[in-house]
Amino acid sequence: MPSPTPLINLHEFEAAAAAVLPRMVYDYYAGGANDEILLRAARTAWSDLTLRYRVLRDVSARSQRTTVLGHTVDWPVFVAPMAFQQLAHDDGEVATAQAAQATGAGMILSTLSNRTIEAVRAGTTGPLWFQLYIYRDRGVTAALVQRAERAGCTALVLTVDAPLLGRRERDLLNGFRLPPDLAVPNLGVALRDTLAGGPDAAQSPASALAQFFEQHWDPSISWRDLAWLQSITSLPILVKGIVRGDDALLAVEHGAAGVIVSNHGGRQLDTAVPTARALPECADAMAGRGVLMVDGGIRRGTDVLKAMALGAQAVLLGRPVLWGLAANGQHGAQQVMQLLKDECDLALALAGCRTPAEVTRDLLE
Ligand code: FNR
Ligand code: LAC
Repeated sequence: MPSPTPLINLHEFEAAAAAVLPRMVYDYYAGGANDEILLRAARTAWSDLTLRYRVLRDVSARSQRTTVLGHTVDWPVFVAPMAFQQLAHDDGEVATAQAAQATGAGMILSTLSNRTIEAVRAGTTGPLWFQLYIYRDRGVTAALVQRAERAGCTALVLTVDAPLLGRRERDLLNGFRLPPDLAVPNLGVALRDTLAGGPDAAQSPASALAQFFEQHWDPSISWRDLAWLQSITSLPILVKGIVRGDDALLAVEHGAAGVIVSNHGGRQLDTAVPTARALPECADAMAGRGVLMVDGGIRRGTDVLKAMALGAQAVLLGRPVLWGLAANGQHGAQQVMQLLKDECDLALALAGCRTPAEVTRDLLE
């Protein structure tokens, strides 16, 4: 039997995943808020930027290696924190972490993982950071922070763009809920039951995730909570979900180790500013104080190059990793990341850059 044609880019992995995933899962992963205007704009904002590449710079020897928050990675990419990865594949977040390690990338684990922090930590020797939502119950939050710290996560990523869950119409129409056999080990049993839709799951048409957010996460969180979080952990904290220079500055002034420019992959406030457009303002405001990363719609090596040119030390890769995981487990996720890594190497070379340090803003118009 001839072997199947290899998938040639990240878009093809999405099509492959769509062919194998149940509709409810594909829609949850792929979807955005409301009319999904930002979801589409996120892509065009990167592709509309044009590159003023340099020539005749001897790019025969190149390295994408870089250091982010004291961790050396082989290329400037971390897997974005994404919930419920066992919906894509039984191995879930462990496979994702292994794929990240195999390509020399870092990994950020979602609070809403299906695999335990400890299992994911045991699955990789690469950098592993823990993403946090602040529960109404600060005791639960503090216990989770301690658990992540004990397990060996080396940074916290506090997500701040979801005081309430965005309105995801696909999930409302599908009645999104977790299958009862999937664990969410970072939550207590009672909290987890809400995600499966509660006792009258069959009757309720709404998204169980929306209900869960409403019941358990705290919409009152403010800059004060960042100070509180620092008081209970010695881990560096990155604030994820910022799209304005003044907020980026506030984050570092409040002691954050850095900022992730993000709008949650277009899943929260529709028609918000695309991250490719928000990034330069944040870079200017921070002026080198703290780590700066970005995510949202990064699908090509040229997007990674542009993110670096606009001041990001590294990017987060979201949905494409889930597409790889769904298509072929760890191997698929690894293929996705390797494709992007190779594209990124080529983009740097063709722009006349041998290392990330040589990527400067004048590469963009
Ligand atoms: C997310 N994202 C997210 N962010 C976060 O801080 N905690 C989380 O649990 C999740 N969960 C989650 C699930 C799914 C299915 C998706 C697609 C996204 C947002 C994520 O970290 C990231 O910001 C975006 O996905 C990046 O955009 P791209 O690369 O997916 O376009
Ligand atoms: C999401 C949440 C869980 O985007 O962060 O689905």
